[in-house]
Amino acid sequence: MGSSGGHTVAIVGGSGFVGRHLLARLVSRHDIRIRALRHEGRLPGDVLERGAELVEGDLFRPASLERLLVPGCTVVNLAYVSGYDRGLEAMDNLGKACVSAGVRRMIHCSTAVVAGRVTETEVSEKTVCRPFKEYEVAKLAIEQLLVDRYGDRLEVIILRPTAVFGPGGRNLLKLMDNLTDGRRWLNYLRSCLSKHRRMNLVCVDNVVGALVWSIGHDKPVREPEVFIVSDDEDPVNDYRSVEAELMRLLGQRPYIFPVVPVPLTLLSILLRGMGRSNYNPSTVYSCRKLMESGFEKSVSVREGLADLARWYRCSRTDGGDR
Ligand SMILES: NC(=O)c1ccc[n+]([C@@H]2O[C@H](COP(=O)([O-])OP(=O)(O)OC[C@H]3O[C@@H](n4cnc5c(N)ncnc54)[C@H](OP(=O)(O)O)[C@@H]3O)[C@@H](O)[C@H]2O)c1
Repeated sequence: MGSSGGHTVAIVGGSGFVGRHLLARLVSRHDIRIRALRHEGRLPGDVLERGAELVEGDLFRPASLERLLVPGCTVVNLAYVSGYDRGLEAMDNLGKACVSAGVRRMIHCSTAVVAGRVTETEVSEKTVCRPFKEYEVAKLAIEQLLVDRYGDRLEVIILRPTAVFGPGGRNLLKLMDNLTDGRRWLNYLRSCLSKHRRMNLVCVDNVVGALVWSIGHDKPVREPEVFIVSDDEDPVNDYRSVEAELMRLLGQRPYIFPVVPVPLTLLSILLRGMGRSNYNPSTVYSCRKLMESGFEKSVSVREGLADLARWYRCSRTDGGDR
């Protein structure tokens, strides 16, 4: 029984992409009791069998949050409610419920793109955010709400992952579909266009690792902490490297012609024209602060891609869950 004793971790958003991976990791831990809020989506089948307690609920039903939370527990919030006002209302409900239940720590999953339209090529937690799209604005406002209203009553840890990829996720699906079923000449042109563009991918295993590290981080968190979670230092995190790796893993032949990159300034103009928030194709989001705080990654981007490609191939042959 993974959830039989020890510290209680209450999870909101456990049915989502990151949540399912987190639950899969936590259920085998004997030192953690899991309580998970079940909203509309299914939670992984073995979670209940392994002793996790499920509480039916909704971020808009405060009574259900009261049932979920127990004094001294750690809350991991992976839920995202779209829309600025609704997103803030949902997080305020959770914050209030945490304070009234005597929760010790709240780990909130935000996003690295709260940085928005930045001028720096290397983004860190200190970068002044200039959110541009509605999602970025709403996610940053949620961070601020948690810090301003609850930062002195709860230990608040905010994680900002970049684009999370892994089995069950949406990132890289289109690229894999194009490589498998798309026109090769079009794929080749895309490759020339984006060759050196940073992908800002982060393996779901490393995001889960950062969440687990934040749960177990034993020093008291006196001030709210923000950590970027990225794999941007990994050499296999630009378009061409990721594409070449996926082509190999999916059994696709390499291109006959060498991939000739278009200048990055042209790509930048195109990205801006497409309405991208951050149109600098060289931007990296640094996870130095997290690594210097003692976090260790468990997988490389190459290993993460191998996992993803395995799942993708299985889901195509089984007609499975995508
Ligand atoms: N995926 C990425 O690439 C990425 C990158 C950076 C940051 N993030 C952030 O990381 C977090 C997790 O991402 P994800 O990809 O795992 O998201 P996801 O798959 O869309 O899952 C979202 C979760 O939120 C839950 N939820 C939505 N409305 C709710 C409500 N009213 N009450 C309770 N739960 C509710 C959903 O439950 P139901 O299905 O039951 O409604 C689901 O479990 C999100 O905050 C996201 O913004 C994701």
